[in-house]
Amino acid sequence: MKKVGVAILGLGVVGGGTYKILDEHREFYKKIHNVDIVVESVLELRKERALALGIAENKIASNIAEICSNPEVDIVVEVIGGVEPAKTFVLAALNAGKSVVTSNKELFCKYSHELEKAAKKNNCGLFYEASCVGGVPVIRALLDNLQGNKILSMMGIINGTTNYILTKMSNGGASYDEVLKEAQKLGYAEANPTADVEGFDAAYKLSILSSMSFHTKIPFSKVYREGITDISAEDIQYGKQLGYALKLLAIGKNSDSGIEVRVHPTFVKLSHPLASVNDSYNAVYVTGDSVEDVMLYGRGAGALPTGSAIVGDIIYCATHNNFNYSTFKNTENADPSVKFVTNFESAYYIRFDAQDKAGVLSKVSSVLSKHDISVAQVIQEDGKKNGAVPLILVTHLTRENNVKKAVDEINANGGFAKVASVIRVVS
Ligand code: HSE
Repeated sequence: MKKVGVAILGLGVVGGGTYKILDEHREFYKKIHNVDIVVESVLELRKERALALGIAENKIASNIAEICSNPEVDIVVEVIGGVEPAKTFVLAALNAGKSVVTSNKELFCKYSHELEKAAKKNNCGLFYEASCVGGVPVIRALLDNLQGNKILSMMGIINGTTNYILTKMSNGGASYDEVLKEAQKLGYAEANPTADVEGFDAAYKLSILSSMSFHTKIPFSKVYREGITDISAEDIQYGKQLGYALKLLAIGKNSDSGIEVRVHPTFVKLSHPLASVNDSYNAVYVTGDSVEDVMLYGRGAGALPTGSAIVGDIIYCATHNNFNYSTFKNTENADPSVKFVTNFESAYYIRFDAQDKAGVLSKVSSVLSKHDISVAQVIQEDGKKNGAVPLILVTHLTRENNVKKAVDEINANGGFAKVASVIRVVS
């Protein structure tokens, strides 16, 4: 029986989960896949962590060079996260002829061009299913099963931390700060939550997923990004009244006008399948020209779900002799011929603090109409707060720049209304 040796770099939550799955399923994989997958080495500074997982002391390496020169290691699993030292270690492994499986979205998003070049040069595999949406098998679906399609669009809830926070804000009416603190206490949000709550994590993943979907490099710098830190419980409640759930949505579209890629808080119509993706769950909703709509749903993080994606890649690597690389020229920057759409089309939720006087609604409408923005829904609430009443509008489809111009004009125009928040809407 073929034996395949694995080294795991980093025994944090995901590394530990990966080890556990491999260890517990070893006999099962032998029976099913006719391959004996053995963890030959681990790189982990906290030796006690490795020992607690049941890893023999002689399998704990003290540096990457030991792993690269170990002839028993065929596949290196990188689950350290962040750019360095992960990048140096992955390049060293590839240059030593080891295939690599990584869960590192930031590394893959920013440096896949370098990693892939090293993998090709050394005839190694480079696998990254776990880098996007944890246990949800979206990468393989895009790389294999959906290849018969031109992918027209994808929309995803691809960050569990923010989905957890928004769900709790929606259910309990608590503020962002209160829910963040609770999420940190429960271990759902990191002590430094910036990467998640400011949308970086989702933007790394969208850069990877949209590059693969649209067969061209979409660098991180092309992804428009807004996080959830300014979201108020008030807007979530008004959104609910209007029939929407608030999500941090990652959106990629490819049309004759060009490619648009953006991550921002979005009101999603309650009838849309993404509206019922709650708590820390993730989902990706892909539209292809042949298949129409497909939604993949599941756990985007966690020891065993992410471990499941990593082990799937290990088994694929262990049972295939030829490796596939990007379908496009994987360069650092975007192909200069690709047009990126920034003045995109969307519907908008706009909340105003308005003066409670005759004619205010008509003044607001007249600015909107001047910028070709047509209104679909309105809520005008009773009850003054700081001398103003809330006025909430949802527009029909319009353009981003039209909304920016209208907002600037209303805010500059004599105080009949001030724009308190603007949130894009998907029906
Ligand atoms: N921090 C990520 C999330 C998980 O909250 O979804 C790993 O990508």
